[in-house]
Amino acid sequence: MSKITRPLRSVLYIPGSKDRALDKARGLPADAIIFDLEDAVIPEEKTAARETLATALKDGGYGSRYKVIRINGLDTHYMYRDVVDILEQAPGKLDLIMIPKAGTAADIYAVDMLVTQIEAATKVEKRIGFELIIETALGMMNVDELAASSRRLESLHFGVADYAASTKARTTVIGGPNKDYHVLTDPDGDGNRDVHWGDMWHYPVARMVVAARAHGLRPIDGPFGDFSDPDGFNAQGNRSATLGCEGKWAIHPSQVELANNLFSPSDEDVTKAQRIIEAMEQAQKEGKGAVALDGRLIDIASIKQAEVMVRKAEQIKAAS
Ligand code: GLV
Ligand code: MG
Repeated sequence: MSKITRPLRSVLYIPGSKDRALDKARGLPADAIIFDLEDAVIPEEKTAARETLATALKDGGYGSRYKVIRINGLDTHYMYRDVVDILEQAPGKLDLIMIPKAGTAADIYAVDMLVTQIEAATKVEKRIGFELIIETALGMMNVDELAASSRRLESLHFGVADYAASTKARTTVIGGPNKDYHVLTDPDGDGNRDVHWGDMWHYPVARMVVAARAHGLRPIDGPFGDFSDPDGFNAQGNRSATLGCEGKWAIHPSQVELANNLFSPSDEDVTKAQRIIEAMEQAQKEGKGAVALDGRLIDIASIKQAEVMVRKAEQIKAAS
């Protein structure tokens, strides 16, 4: 199974049924495009959407961007046709299938079995990879089992909107903070208290990152609905990047560049990481396991941390 190797910083989400969006995506600098057949397409348009999408995939023009279809959930009767129609009508054109509302390993087996049969029947050599959206209480509870469920898996995505609905979280925004999720400081001498907003998505994102990394998959943060709030997008994206996510969905063209920037290490960070590697190489030559650099301790684990940063920068450079 060939694993996908290029960056996944910006994952552009577009309706698979809209010619204009399908065309516009050809010119946007996204690392991946999700062609949605699920929530962005109303039931009456599912059949037409598959045809429109298959034609767009055959016409091509998406360059090196990863091409992903988001199929409908396994609890609908649309899902099998999404897989069969797109794979048969546009053989070899797709890189990944995104499975929404992944709940148990059996869900993933069902899609895997279907795809394996179609690949065999159509004699397509390229094997399709899978991406899972972790967006239900069941999926989050079973995230380890899901992350180990198929050799086709490439990445896990945090579907914040459905996750909030599934857990009955008290919020109606998509992926933003909530003022009610805060702590109050103790009163100061004058009785004043500060309000510190917390991040209500910290736990699910961190949980998903651990499961993904433990199984060699790439964790990706999902949508941020308020596309007129770039600062809010950056704040959420920075938090998930800090926790280990490799990219974030862009539900609007303006979010593509934001995500590319957020998930590319800065020159300053890369230079610092290179200095750590050099200092540790020197330390090892001198038989030392730990040394000081700029007044801070660095040791063997620091090399590993620094290498993550340097490799990420190399991966991005190689793809550009
Ligand atoms: C994405 O599918 C989400 O529910 O946030
Ligand atoms: Mg969803």
